[in-house]
Formats: sequence, structure tokens, C-alpha cells
Amino acid sequence: MRTLRIISVVMAATLLASCVGKAQESAPSALDVIMSRTSIRQFTGEPVTREQLETILKAGMAAPTAMNVQPWRFVVVTDREKMISVFGGGPRGDMFKTAGAVIVVCGETTMKMKPFGQPDAEATEQPNKFWFEDCALAGENILLAAKALGLGAVWTAGYPAEERIAPIAKALGIPSNVVPLCIIPIGVPAENPAPKDKWKPENIHWEQW
Ligand SMILES: Cc1cc2nc3c(=O)[nH]c(=O)nc-3n(C[C@H](O)[C@H](O)[C@H](O)COP(=O)(O)O)c2cc1C
Repeated sequence: MRTLRIISVVMAATLLASCVGKAQESAPSALDVIMSRTSIRQFTGEPVTREQLETILKAGMAAPTAMNVQPWRFVVVTDREKMISVFGGGPRGDMFKTAGAVIVVCGETTMKMKPFGQPDAEATEQPNKFWFEDCALAGENILLAAKALGLGAVWTAGYPAEERIAPIAKALGIPSNVVPLCIIPIGVPAENPAPKDKWKPENIHWEQW
């Protein structure tokens, strides 16, 4: 009886170890995620969990940022009625009706900062010259993290399309010095488009244009 129990414990442990091994084996590499990401605009309507959203937002905040200023701000909407009322209008509105969540990636365009290289100077409100680049990098990290979690997402335009961002900023109470750069619906994919082949060697100039 005791031998039987030992054998079952050993078998269960072996099975668990092989499952863990398989899970590790099947985790996609960073390159797999980058090369297979594609814009997803149809979702099943299933929710995206808070844990998944926090992982995705952590990836956003892990982006490079000029002088480590981190000007990104994120508005996360998960309430279906709100998603529909704020983002659901217009020709591309349907994707927001079935997304599990929407992340609005915003940039703080002015911030209280000390002049660069003057640690003793007083911090004053200054333009944040690199908000756009920093927030775009955060946005791409968000798209990739969603893909890595098996979710779908798409960058939809905010800045500089004033007619798109003004109603969103108003509805979400975004302050005037904070600009919605892009609006990213995220959800369980209901489509599986092939990634576009964008490899064009003619766009590369080795050593010299
Ligand atoms: C700055 C920018 C604005 C975009 N705006 C929209 C948009 O408003 N609506 C949309 O459906 N897709 C939008 N996209 C997604 C592009 O259409 C998509 O990335 C492009 O067609 C390449 O396809 P892929 O993402 O599947 O590789 C935008 C992408 C970028 C980078």
C-alpha cells in the first residue's frame, strides 16, 4: 500500500514537472511576439482581467523614456457602457463594443521639472519635449504585451487628430496639458489575421544612403 502511494506521488510529480516544462517551452519568445503581432479589431466580448491589464500597463511603463521623465499617463476603461458611449461612435466604433478594456495612452506635455543638469535649480512648469516619443514606445509595449498574453489589440489614432481627442478628453476628464496619444481596445480576439509582411530590404541603406 505504502509502495503504491509512493509510486503515485512520484508519478504526479513527474507529470507536474513535465507540464511546467511544456509551459516554459511554449512561452513565445520576444521575437515571436513582435513578428506575429497584428492589429486585432474584432473581439469576443469576454472581459480582460485586472491582472492582465496590470501586466500590460507594467509593460507600457517599462518603455524607454527620455531622461527617465516617464510622461505617460493611462486611462483604463473596462465598463462596457462607458466604452460604448465614449469610444463606440464613428466608422471604427464597433471594436469598442466587444473589447474587454480600453487603454487611452496619454502624454503629459508639460511637467514641473528642474532645468537639465541643474539639480539645485527650482522646478518650474516646462514643456516635455519628448512626450510623444516616450508615449509611442509605451503604446507599442502595450500592443506587444497584449499579444504575449494571447489577447488582441489595435492602436487607434488620437493625437494629433483634435476632433478625435477633444470629446474623449472631455468625457474622461483628462486635464488640458495631458494629450490622448492613442486609444487601444484590448480583448479576446475574434479574428486571426495573418501578420502583414512588411520586410522591405529596399528601405534599408547599409552604411550610406
Ligand atoms: C499612428 C497610428 C494610427 C492608427 N490609427 C488607427 C485607427 O484609427 N484605426 C485603426 O483601425 N487602426 C489604426 N492603426 C493601426 C494600423 O492601421 C495598423 O497598424 C497597420 O495597418 C498595420 O497593420 P498591423 O498593425 O496589423 O501590422 C493605427 C496605427 C498607427 C501606428
